[in-house]
Amino acid sequence: MAEPDGEVTPASPETVDVEAAFDAIDEQWSPRLAAALNGQAVKLAVVEGEFLSHAHPDADELFYVLDGDLTLAFDDRPDVRLGPGELTVVPGGVEHRPVAHEETRLLLFEPAATRNTGDRETDETVEEIERVD
Ligand code: NI
Repeated sequence: MAEPDGEVTPASPETVDVEAAFDAIDEQWSPRLAAALNGQAVKLAVVEGEFLSHAHPDADELFYVLDGDLTLAFDDRPDVRLGPGELTVVPGGVEHRPVAHEETRLLLFEPAATRNTGDRETDETVEEIERVD
């Protein structure tokens, strides 16, 4: 699938076992594609520790914590701390630094072409997202 264009497999009624998909993720801070619809994507990520500060100039990004403890640290507003069952939306263009205080299972909902490191190019940048196992 061509992630940078947002061209992803058309919607089809497949079942994704979300718990099993999380169990199969062997790399932290590297989102996997669980579903794509209408140019948006549901991505799953396992994270722990600090990620780099970045922004997504043209995309709002939804963070939904299924398990764990995540802070989104901001330069220009109060931090947001999410526990299991809590979500928030980071508006496009807002610099954010995710910090997971323990191993955290995270669902992201955002335009399919959104990169994990946003406007930053680093070793952690995922250009081509993999589908969940
Ligand atoms: Ni982000």
